[in-house]
Amino acid sequence: MPQRTLVILKPDAVRRGLTGEIIGRIERKADWSLAAVELRTLDRATLEQHYAEHEGRPFYEPLVEFMASGPSVVMVVEGERVIEGVRALAGPTDPIAAAPGSVRGDFGTIVRENLIHASDSEESAEREMKIFFPSFA
Ligand code: TYD
Ligand code: MG
Repeated sequence: MPQRTLVILKPDAVRRGLTGEIIGRIERKADWSLAAVELRTLDRATLEQHYAEHEGRPFYEPLVEFMASGPSVVMVVEGERVIEGVRALAGPTDPIAAAPGSVRGDFGTIVRENLIHASDSEESAEREMKIFFPSFA
């Protein structure tokens, strides 16, 4: 079942020089490919749309600030079961709880700076691709 998903390599991944490593893991999965890739500093309005579900939570403001703190790599990845697949490759939200072998488990320690975003469902993927790549929608 081929799908498309919206992936963001967050400002910590870019600052730490981990984008090649993470993109490499995605590219090496059989039948997955990059449909769009762009280095982009995300503005507040875009991030407020993207993280609308979390508005009002205690971590929301610092999250938006962190996400705007430097360039991210924004991507559309396509391929077999890629929505579930990139979430699995990323690992759970808290990097300390994430197993070694996952991106967050291998490289992260704090929840806010957990390196990677990936859409969590087909509905989220459609919504998020429209935000970041309107021409894909
Ligand atoms: P969430 O959508 O719950 O996680 P995921 O990225 O795994 O889908 O949260 C969005 C981001 O918000 C998460 O990647 C990091 C940040 N965050 C915090 O800083 N503190 C928290 O307690 C939570 C739940 C998330
Ligand atoms: Mg989420």
